[in-house]
Amino acid sequence: MIKLTIDGQAIQVEKGLSVLEAAKRAGIEIPTLCYHEALTPQGACRVCTVEIIRKGWSSLNAACTYPVQEGIEVKTDSEKVRGARKLILELLLARCPNVKSIQDLAKKMGVKKPRFQVDNEECILCGLCVRVCQEVIGVSAIGFVNRGTERQVTTPYQMHSDVCIGCGACATVCPTGAIKIEDDQNLRKIPLWHTELKRKKCKMCSNFFVPEVEIDFLKTKDLHLPQDLFEICPDCRRSELGNKLSRFKTTIPGNFLTKI
Ligand code: SF4
Ligand code: FES
Repeated sequence: MIKLTIDGQAIQVEKGLSVLEAAKRAGIEIPTLCYHEALTPQGACRVCTVEIIRKGWSSLNAACTYPVQEGIEVKTDSEKVRGARKLILELLLARCPNVKSIQDLAKKMGVKKPRFQVDNEECILCGLCVRVCQEVIGVSAIGFVNRGTERQVTTPYQMHSDVCIGCGACATVCPTGAIKIEDDQNLRKIPLWHTELKRKKCKMCSNFFVPEVEIDFLKTKDLHLPQDLFEICPDCRRSELGNKLSRFKTTIPGNFLTKI
């Protein structure tokens, strides 16, 4: 076990946890944007910045990627931390002035108006969508391209992706709502990924539900689900099978299994 203090509170946690996870265990909340417990932390947004005092030296670090260490002192709300987070939120607000989650967080940090040139983006380049697609879904339909101010998340060659299954997990984890899923009768569109996929028709009610390619993809997985299940929409499935399905509920972030 590792002993450390967070905001003056002495705690003991298992080796391998991050400071963010340790703080959570101690009931101390640290704001995050690019963190999801089901995904590898990347330290992209820096919103979770905390002050860490180790061997008498103080430094600012991302709590989501900093591993707990014996004897460290963590401050989650010091003047240094508040100043750093305020600057980060000012930059994010300048990039995405119309995104509600950023506006709310900026307000919480006391940022009224950014001093920087204001843009009108929706994506903060946190990479959650890329990670969920790769690590949980196992498809890797999207990725980062370019550098510096040109950096963005997109499909290969910025064209229609032939591997995207339209599951929508990316939209579910996106902290800014940048990824829009448009279901229009027999089509599912994800404009940001230049994706347009045919939806499957429910054998029972004839309503369209998820993309056909998502069903085909799921059929290749060892999910131990009856094949008939893939032919009917979630509503009919619920009424048909009721609680029998509850054991298939997963922690996958997204509408991946719960919406098939
Ligand atoms: S689209 Fe959303 S999840 Fe993906 S990098 Fe941008 S903000 Fe993050
Ligand atoms: S939540 Fe830790 S850097 Fe984004």
